[in-house]
Amino acid sequence: MIIALIFILLFQYVYNDDHLQFGFGTVATASFKNYHIRVKQPISCENSVQYSGYIDNLVTNEHVFFIFLESRFAPKTDPVILSLNGQLGCSSITNVWFETGLCLVKKAGIETNPFSFNNIANILYVDQPTGVGYSYSSGKKPSTCAQVTETIYWFLQSFFTEFKQFARNDFHIAGTSYASHFVPSLATHIIRENRYASSSNKLPIQLASIILGNGYINPRAHKLSYAEYSCDDNKYKPIYDKVTCQKMKTNRRQYSCYSEIQDIVNYANSQEMKTEYGIDSEAGEFQNCNSHVKARFDMTKDSLVNTMDQIEKVLATNIRVLVYAGDMNWYNNWYGQTDWLSKLDWIGQVGFNDAKDKDWFSYVSGQKAGTVKSFLNLSFVKVFNAGYYSIYDQPANMIDLYSRWVMNVSLGY
Ligand SMILES: *[C@@H]1O[C@H](CO)[C@@H](O)[C@H](O)[C@H]1NC(C)=O
Ligand SMILES: *[C@@H]1O[C@H](CO)[C@@H](O)[C@H](O)[C@H]1NC(C)=O
Repeated sequence: MIIALIFILLFQYVYNDDHLQFGFGTVATASFKNYHIRVKQPISCENSVQYSGYIDNLVTNEHVFFIFLESRFAPKTDPVILSLNGQLGCSSITNVWFETGLCLVKKAGIETNPFSFNNIANILYVDQPTGVGYSYSSGKKPSTCAQVTETIYWFLQSFFTEFKQFARNDFHIAGTSYASHFVPSLATHIIRENRYASSSNKLPIQLASIILGNGYINPRAHKLSYAEYSCDDNKYKPIYDKVTCQKMKTNRRQYSCYSEIQDIVNYANSQEMKTEYGIDSEAGEFQNCNSHVKARFDMTKDSLVNTMDQIEKVLATNIRVLVYAGDMNWYNNWYGQTDWLSKLDWIGQVGFNDAKDKDWFSYVSGQKAGTVKSFLNLSFVKVFNAGYYSIYDQPANMIDLYSRWVMNVSLGY
């Protein structure tokens, strides 16, 4: 693992612009009952293997778009990370060009990403719920977490049937912000289905961990934390000095306007890009966030659901759980995370609450990158100088965090 991390460091310096371009076209199709998969191998700004495509559900008429980046080093054995973005109704595909993909869309143009997550794993990005990003539906329009869970589950079954070579690898589900609401639900669904996989003719999914980044878990804890986190002169003492408070407030404003997002939306809508990645015209205009999808979920009050009991089930099944929060992030801030974590009802509750914060030194940046509190299979990481988009703010430290987590190497000393 250390070798992989050193390579990431070197890669920043040795990478040059000689692009090796892959062929373009449909590399695989498979029809099996009720599902159809369409796959392309798009060319990008660098030479890693990537696939894009749709899995069609012929019964519900949902068409779920994905991008899959093969790991640069050992795709056959490296884990698969499913990467889901919040906020509710916002595209996971945006992340490919914003934080963790091969090529990032910057003000100055497309740049290769030295901290691309395929340095450490195979990465699967899926636009969900159906209706978001490039995914679309001419039939069923989801409005609850349970429906999203079902959709991602049949998506994964179809995906791993087609890409059998990855079906036995460790599988991690990572979701940020509102996607952290879907992740525990998906994990418990997988745990349940795995039990009957052989009798129901399904592929068991090798769930190894869930990762909840700046996650939306317990509505009440998050809501209460806003007062606590804020710097106003109320019953809570300000937690930071004036300068830090000012920085945080600035960051909070920036939340909705990390400036590259609009450039990414423009890029995602270019005809060249749509052709390259095989986007169906029925998907319509690419929007980073779809307000109709959000409105449907708001109608069912999905956002009021507390997913702690599902996280408890995940821990009880010996699946590891990583929770992280950027210390400068206001939404779902670390105060609220600390609160619900302390109330989590599991075998390690007392031990976790008694555990001390340890320093996390990043191998990649050589810096003190945050703190970690761990007990048994639960870890909480506070990421220093990171806001809502923690990976965007701290790419070197965040790839260090993810790589050590998926390899189960301790973060704190
Ligand atoms: C933690 O998870 C691992 C497998 O991921 C399991 O072997 C171990 O028993 C778990 N530990 C506890 C205390 O739950
Ligand atoms: C992860 O590491 C811890 C501590 O080294 C160990 O107890 C645990 O069993 C490991 N889990 C897995 C899944 O390897």
